[in-house]
Amino acid sequence: MECEGNMSRILITGGAGFIGSHTTLTLLGAGYDVIIVDNLSNSSHKAVDAIGALALRETGKQFTFYEGDVADGAFLRTVFEKNKIDAVIHFAGFKAVGESVAKPAKYYVNNLLTTLTLLNTMKEFGVTGFVFSSSATVYSDPGITQYDESTTRVGRASSPYGTTKVIQEWILEDIAKSGDLLLKVISLRYFNPVGAHSSGEIGESPQGIPNNLTPFITQVAVGKRDFLSVFGDDYPTPDGTCIRDYIHVTDLAEAHYLAVKRLLETNDLPEFDGINIGSGKGYSVFEVIAAFDKAVGKKIPYKVVSRRDGDLAEFTAKTEKAQKLLGFTTKLTIGDMAKDAWNWQSKHPNGFDE
Ligand code: WQD
Repeated sequence: MECEGNMSRILITGGAGFIGSHTTLTLLGAGYDVIIVDNLSNSSHKAVDAIGALALRETGKQFTFYEGDVADGAFLRTVFEKNKIDAVIHFAGFKAVGESVAKPAKYYVNNLLTTLTLLNTMKEFGVTGFVFSSSATVYSDPGITQYDESTTRVGRASSPYGTTKVIQEWILEDIAKSGDLLLKVISLRYFNPVGAHSSGEIGESPQGIPNNLTPFITQVAVGKRDFLSVFGDDYPTPDGTCIRDYIHVTDLAEAHYLAVKRLLETNDLPEFDGINIGSGKGYSVFEVIAAFDKAVGKKIPYKVVSRRDGDLAEFTAKTEKAQKLLGFTTKLTIGDMAKDAWNWQSKHPNGFDE
């Protein structure tokens, strides 16, 4: 893929979201130009302004922002017409596991239509590099606890949200392998993204009650919630609580930079490649709570309650492929994740909703 001049232009769909905003900063810092498309369904103008201010301070650069829906083909075409895009990182999509169970149609229509419309528009403009925001949720529970990329992918995931990720990977893989759009896809399968930019100026700002562990913990720490409910301590793990592979969002952003750089600068990749992005190390819920006790400087109050449906006892990432193909390894620790997540929440008790 040729890039005019030396500034490759990357379209980041959903770039005003948690992982998208951190990836925007990393790409700007690496010298790329960034175009963000986001309908702000899970973000806000305040978030866009905060990302912009931080980008200017940290990198001296600005991104171009378009508010609109990736599923709106006419709108998306204007974005491609106005910007000579060299590659795409696709985050835009709904991602609340619980909501997807209650409203599957909303998730199938939105998450699939955005991707199909994006692919159509990329074909029209001859853009072929595609980094996809995927998830470890595409793997089945194969009775093993550490997944490599050959681990069986499910037909149906544990939630409609997860199933939309599986279906999107199938669509991308079939199109890429057919040579139909000359598409080259790297599908990054995240494990558990956590933390915030070290400045504390951007971070995770879930709408409503947080589904995930660490934003719930920081909301307890900042006094927005009374206590954390620990969903079960009777799992077959050392301390009885579930074990997960947590990865700092700044490390995760670095993985996206390395993936898009690989797509733009080399030609030896297969048309479609799924790559696990995790630390390779697992921490239990109690160990995560202990990390936050230390970061916050006080005990996080919690109560053990019954298990949450669908939770697996343990899964972590095999990380050899990310190291080999992208030269990626995580640098930040669970302590860094707790420190940075708390720094963000303590500075912004209501996230971007202030
Ligand atoms: C982690 C652990 C819970 C909340 C999910 C999605 C996955 C991906 C990452 C998008 C589990 C326990 C949690 C709470 C708790 N998202 N927990 N009390 O379930 O591993 O993965 O987020 O791609 O698709 O499924 O992450 O943070 O929800 O839970 O005890 O209030 O914390 O039981 O063991 P999970 P999580």
